[in-house]
Amino acid sequence: MRQTRVSAPSNIALIKYMGKVDPALNLPANGSLSMTLNQLCTYVEITETATATRWLAEAPAELPSGTFSGAVRVPKLTEAGILKVIRHHERVLAAVFELFPVHGLSLAPITPVEIRTANTFPADSGIASSASSFAALTFGTALHSALDPKAFTKVWEENLEFRRSFAKVSRQGSGSSCRSFEGPWVLWEKGAAAGLITPMPEMVDFVVLIATGPKPVTSTQAHHLVQTSPLWEGRTERVAERLKTVEAALGEGDIITLSRVAWAEMWEMHSLFHTCSDPFTYWEPGTLKVIKWLAPYIQEGGAEGSELTPPIVTMDAGANVHILVAAAEATKWQTILNKAFPEFEILQDTQGTGAKVLPALTKPVGTS
Ligand code: PMV
Repeated sequence: MRQTRVSAPSNIALIKYMGKVDPALNLPANGSLSMTLNQLCTYVEITETATATRWLAEAPAELPSGTFSGAVRVPKLTEAGILKVIRHHERVLAAVFELFPVHGLSLAPITPVEIRTANTFPADSGIASSASSFAALTFGTALHSALDPKAFTKVWEENLEFRRSFAKVSRQGSGSSCRSFEGPWVLWEKGAAAGLITPMPEMVDFVVLIATGPKPVTSTQAHHLVQTSPLWEGRTERVAERLKTVEAALGEGDIITLSRVAWAEMWEMHSLFHTCSDPFTYWEPGTLKVIKWLAPYIQEGGAEGSELTPPIVTMDAGANVHILVAAAEATKWQTILNKAFPEFEILQDTQGTGAKVLPALTKPVGTS
């Protein structure tokens, strides 16, 4: 039985994708910019089967152990969620027919498959699980379709245009997933995402886990609702300005500017949620506690007595707070964060470079 096993990381946006101009194709109302993560990821296992293509609520076998203490989590998908996975698998299959011949790759016989997925973090919690899930499903399906997986991997690693073509296909499943194919810093404008070359130091992302239950409003609903807010007017222009500032700051490794702009952008996106036609919030009391505590570190002057560089603080569509700091200062941040918030679990991840092939199973499938 042929089997393919891959992983793809989530990513965390400093400038947010929020609002679509074309919901069918997931074309964004504005550009966005993110840092690709590493171990906060989705594993996907695709195994040939004699029956029909289906998604199974089972974890892939033998996953590499990371820095995460807990077991990986198999997402709880609704019927609609499972259908989305199957449709996306079919979308990628359609794309390989077009893209493989252009790059001299041959197709493996297309058979029904069983798809197993698992995340290293709680789904539905505002860590973009749709980004990592759809990136992993796109990459896994493409790799599984190759007659010679080694030849595929070589083209994937050497030809950015090839990888970016699949990022575009992935975008149609979940917009933010198109930023999980390269890294660490990725800019997504209109249809296409591309990595940026920067002198930024190695970064670490702390995620203060405040709530891990299902979100009150899905990101699909949020993309629609934000456009009903009176604050929506001028958003495209404001984001274009912020993107220019952030690109320049990344080019200079200027963390202080990144910190200020990401902070303003985070407040703006959540203000859109709070002021739309049917106002809602992702914030929990713990969210406010954490961001109020962080504010002095970001605002002019810094926190009293602190010699730490201002952190880059942001939140996705969820209650959890991401705190990005230079790896050189990560140990100090870990100590003060654990002391300030003993009641919350704090995940820690590093920057990453995008989707990866997983090591082969020690006991290949179909052997006993
Ligand atoms: O890719 P989606 O449709 O799940 O949207 C993700 C939107 C945010 O995570 C809130 C922002 C972003 O740019 O990742």
